Amino acid sequence: MFRSVARSAAGKHLLRRGYATESVPDRKVAVLGAAGGIGQPLALLMKLNPRVSRLALYDIANTPGVAADVSHINTRSEVTGYVGEEQLGQALEGCDVVIIPAGVPRKPGMTRDDLFNINAGIVKGLCSAIAKYCPNALVNMISNPVNSTVPIAAEVFKKAGTYDERKLFGVTTLDVVRAKTFYAGKAKVNVTDVNVPVVGGHAGVTILPLFSQATPKANLPEDEIKALTKRTQDGGTEVVEAKAGKGSATLSMAYAGAIFADACLKGLNGVPDVVECSFVQSTVTELPFFASKVRLGKNGVEEVLGLGPLSEYEKEGLEILKPELKASIEKGIKFANQS
Ligand code: NAD
Ligand code: LMR
Repeated sequence: MFRSVARSAAGKHLLRRGYATESVPDRKVAVLGAAGGIGQPLALLMKLNPRVSRLALYDIANTPGVAADVSHINTRSEVTGYVGEEQLGQALEGCDVVIIPAGVPRKPGMTRDDLFNINAGIVKGLCSAIAKYCPNALVNMISNPVNSTVPIAAEVFKKAGTYDERKLFGVTTLDVVRAKTFYAGKAKVNVTDVNVPVVGGHAGVTILPLFSQATPKANLPEDEIKALTKRTQDGGTEVVEAKAGKGSATLSMAYAGAIFADACLKGLNGVPDVVECSFVQSTVTELPFFASKVRLGKNGVEEVLGLGPLSEYEKEGLEILKPELKASIEKGIKFANQS
């Protein structure tokens, strides 16, 4: 175990400017898979987050170096690196938020489901440890295929008797980040002003951006909306092909993961009206898990928001995605229960 202390604030409860209602208590965040392509920049971004007081960086190899490096940054949190399964419990103990970018990424020609055979087992093992060492933590699942790894996590937690549907999240923020960027480019609006909900799941056609609800309104023609939808659905593949065998999105994913983890921390700290899209247990459709806007609070999901009015094209997209998403969810549940 590698430990380094770089605390700029010793108090248990800091008060932040900006949110009159937010106290900033001690918060421990763990990144599992912290030495990977996503894990390293995500560790950096979490080290920059003033809401984090302890940052645990866990991987099966190479975490001491990452932890030593990140720990020299003069921000609030104390960074500790953990390496190997025997240190996983220590990494997890006392965690408020656990972020999981552990597992293999795609190469060109692969679907996210092609990662199932390796990543399902990794996620199952990590979630068993979460159930044991930090059953109350909010879990941010990044490992693919998210449409299956989230149901796997839910089953593991159910078996352990620790499942709380408010605390399990599939991270789909990168789809929102992409939809915002691509929309701003077409609509010629300031990207920082853009909002676009993205619903469904996190693979191909299961990713359904709702450009009819995008703001600022731009009244783009139908063919441009279709092209934007396809580009958002294929955003991951665009990066996988550009990286040509050297992995998938890491930097934009770390950014997206940091945004989502920060939203979770804000919710825990009592900041009002924190809303992000996430793949969660849901009754928004007939599927047991579905990504939509969720309101985050002191216990995780406070409210799963509905889809709002859909265009005819989006209604079609919703029906198209259901069979694939249903199959991926069932595959995850089956794996967790048979192995
Ligand atoms: P990577 O290979 O660069 O890093 C993965 C890390 O996980 C490695 O450091 C590896 O040692 C570690 N790891 C493997 N088994 C582990 C275990 N049992 N415990 C802890 N750590 C373990 O891969 P990456 O590019 O960082 O991608 C990681 C995952 O994130 C992939 O499954 C990828 O498909 C997924 N991903 C998801 C999204 C999303 O939007 N949800 C976006 C991009 C990537
Ligand atoms: C992404 O959307 O970038 C990730 O899910 C990684 C991938 O395999 O596309």
